[in-house]
Amino acid sequence: MCGIVGVIGNRNATDILMQGLEKLEYRGYDSAGIFVTNEAGKSKLVKSVGRIEDLRDKLGIDVSGTAGIGHTRWATHGKPSVENAHPHTSASERFVLVHNGVIENFREIQAEYLSTDDFKGQTDTEIAVHLIGKFVEEDGLSVLEAFKKALSIIEGSYAFALMDTENPDMIYVAKNKSPLLIGLGEGYNMVCSDAMAMIRETSEFMEIHDKELVLVTKDNIAITDYQGNPINRASYTAELDLSDIGKGTYPFYMLKEIDEQPTVMRKLITTYANEDGSMKVAPEIVKAVQEADRIYVIAAGTSYNAGFGAKMMLEALTQTPVELGVASEWGYGMPLLSKKPFFIFLSQSGETADSRQVLVKVNELGLPSLTVTNVPGSTLSREATYTMLIGAGPEIAVASTKAYTGQIATLAFLAKAVGEADGLQAAYDFDLVKELSLVAQSIEATLSEKEMIAELVKKLLLETRNAFYIGRKQDYFVSMEASLKLKEISYVQCEGFAAGELKHGTISLIEKGVPVIALLSDPTVAAHTRGNIMEVVARGASTIVIAEESVSKPEDDIIVSNVHPYLSAISMVIPTQIIAYETSMQRGLDVDKPRNLAKAVTVE
Ligand code: M6R
Repeated sequence: MCGIVGVIGNRNATDILMQGLEKLEYRGYDSAGIFVTNEAGKSKLVKSVGRIEDLRDKLGIDVSGTAGIGHTRWATHGKPSVENAHPHTSASERFVLVHNGVIENFREIQAEYLSTDDFKGQTDTEIAVHLIGKFVEEDGLSVLEAFKKALSIIEGSYAFALMDTENPDMIYVAKNKSPLLIGLGEGYNMVCSDAMAMIRETSEFMEIHDKELVLVTKDNIAITDYQGNPINRASYTAELDLSDIGKGTYPFYMLKEIDEQPTVMRKLITTYANEDGSMKVAPEIVKAVQEADRIYVIAAGTSYNAGFGAKMMLEALTQTPVELGVASEWGYGMPLLSKKPFFIFLSQSGETADSRQVLVKVNELGLPSLTVTNVPGSTLSREATYTMLIGAGPEIAVASTKAYTGQIATLAFLAKAVGEADGLQAAYDFDLVKELSLVAQSIEATLSEKEMIAELVKKLLLETRNAFYIGRKQDYFVSMEASLKLKEISYVQCEGFAAGELKHGTISLIEKGVPVIALLSDPTVAAHTRGNIMEVVARGASTIVIAEESVSKPEDDIIVSNVHPYLSAISMVIPTQIIAYETSMQRGLDVDKPRNLAKAVTVE
């Protein structure tokens, strides 16, 4: 959460910072700011509440420079306000700092070192920059020594970019747990929370690892550990396509990303299957899963739901039990593990702090792990033993869509590869290439029903404050994801429920007009779910029935074409994505940037 960008040695510093912040806005968008300085030492700090466009409106024409730092915020300490927006300054305003993360001991630091200081806002970041300023201006340390001393005191997560207004030809950088990357330009250098935001300027990057300190000047990058030992690190070229991060002709990223799902499915076939239909999954990953007696899938939010969507298939094809772990809980206490566990981390961004905290523990225990992610080179990818990429292309809308379906499909290739390596007939019998092609077609058919779905939304979801999704087995897992999607972008309070559980308490919430959306794809339980639909209708609920063709009735509202049961969590989720999108649109909300949220959740 929060996005950081910095540049040094480029005449278009303001433009680069603003463009970078626009690309980073998905990380947080409640306030933003930039600090820019020019060769003559003239500098300017501009901050604004709201979006980057609000900051742009405040900039004025005289904000130009050759170096600077910028920040887009997702509030943790202190409400969104100009005072709490970054960059923050030291007491004398000589030092300027942007920060992504959470300083856990900021209150203790304030009490011990800064008890007489006045602060403009309530952020932990302001404490950090005051601390650095104090060490320089009161204790006589050099800026580097002061920064190091502050880093030795600060506990928590951070990506810092610090500038000294008296010597603005350097950006002091350090990170722990929060993502940060160096971008190398011709005669200038950059620092940024992610590569995508720098790709317009450069495709050459250098990683920074936790507890490294980097001095960035226009023509040099010097990395050391916190003890001052130099670290040599090669740069790498990232093959990122600038056109991938545009909206094209779409009004919103979410709609574009929903529509991209058939392509994502087909692309995965070429990534993970050979032309003869055999699997192209790295043998060392297959072997590691084969050796496991239990697979632990760790994830958050939509990725967690994707884990459930893949569980039945993983178990059936690998004959290995699969346990799901919600990352924000497992970080604090792992349950009793099996003798030979294998961990799979599912994460679109590869940066989710909750998941990473579990991965750190897994690594400490020396256990094998795989990250399934959409972002090559992301933290979870670098730190896990193995990586499988979804290759869905950048997902910019805060509400995850193509990453969910891409994760399940990627796990299908893994499951089949492992099952075949184990000689399991069920794996050979599952013609994944054919089945996933059918899934792509099924998605296309559902996408062509958008207008009809929009009408259903208009009738049933436009005014309501709450709603339910119900389903059994796989459809229950899809209902969890469907309700998360509706909640996060339309602000309708929605619960995904195991259809059979309703009568054990929650049915008391059903009254006239409450929308209940039922998912049916499994013939073994469809009749029971239909019974549950009757129960809620009898109590006044307004229903939408989404049924797979195989179990559908003429009166059902949305029919999804048949796919293999292992993959129904992909096809059945598509109408629910459209329902969420349409509800948000029709309510006039910001589909891509819902309130209070951020795309990459990099704080625990
Ligand atoms: O990047 P990750 O997949 O690790 O992110 C996990 C969740 O934060 C994410 O899926 C979140 O729930 C989405 N906004 C849901 O649409």
